[in-house]
Amino acid sequence: MKHVVSIADLSKKQILSILKRAKELVPVAKGKKKSKSLDGKILATCFFEPSTRTRLSFETAMQRLGGTCIGFADPSATSHLKGETLVDGIKMVAGYADAVVLRHPQEGSARLASENSEVPLINGGDGAGQHPTQTLLDLFTINEEMKKMEGLNVGMLGDLRYGRTVHSLSHALAKFGNKLSFISPDSLSMPSYVTDDLSCEWSSHNSIEDVLNDLDVLYVTRIQKERFPDLEEYKKVASAYVINLDLLKNAKSNMRILHPLPRVTEISTDVDKTKHAAYFRQAFNGVPVRMALLEQLIGGKK
Ligand code: CP
Repeated sequence: MKHVVSIADLSKKQILSILKRAKELVPVAKGKKKSKSLDGKILATCFFEPSTRTRLSFETAMQRLGGTCIGFADPSATSHLKGETLVDGIKMVAGYADAVVLRHPQEGSARLASENSEVPLINGGDGAGQHPTQTLLDLFTINEEMKKMEGLNVGMLGDLRYGRTVHSLSHALAKFGNKLSFISPDSLSMPSYVTDDLSCEWSSHNSIEDVLNDLDVLYVTRIQKERFPDLEEYKKVASAYVINLDLLKNAKSNMRILHPLPRVTEISTDVDKTKHAAYFRQAFNGVPVRMALLEQLIGGKK
């Protein structure tokens, strides 16, 4: 494992090893135990698109392990604005840091960057492509909440067309032997380049009511306004789904709702206090999971 561009870059054994180490690191992630396993290491976070969770949890992960961070969250304050290419920029940053996290609006940008990086390149989300570290924390969360991550019926709802989180997660959940139900408007259905690759049972639906009572996990995603080439097309589907208390009367009592966040209107805030809501715990899990990944990529003593 040098670069992490797609979840397919990681074997089942590598994923399990990261999740096992992440569990051990939870007290360090919470600041209750100390570690210096990444003492002296530098992580560069290069974010060409907005982020709260991915960038800040990587930075927390690094600092909790004794490392430091450089980087930017505003590309307009970098030489990108003067016309520097992504490839040239990454070659520079790879000389300043031990690993690089890249978020970029263009699908394929992380692969291109990895081919030009001397140090491990981690994809922090490339357009509608992949978000592999989100998938690692999603798997960790499912395992924590359900006490297993195989043999489950997992629903994925919302923007399945442009949603990089669900593209990566589908691949991983199929690898671990789960059943997938994709719920979306027709215009936002899961692309065939994702479904063609799935080695598990799956089905597609427009209505959440059709499948809700069978689900163990419901993975909700935001309809991403910024990905639509045509605003009118966005308006047609913007309010397609709202998960609320009334709807959840038909869910299994131990069904868990995950969401990569940010949420807009697709989950009503009264759901937050129910036993179904796992999304804020899920967001915290980004810290120990990214700590475990960084340890494996750039080493150091435990
Ligand atoms: N889940 C996620 O990628 O969130 P951010 O866009 O805030 O990083």
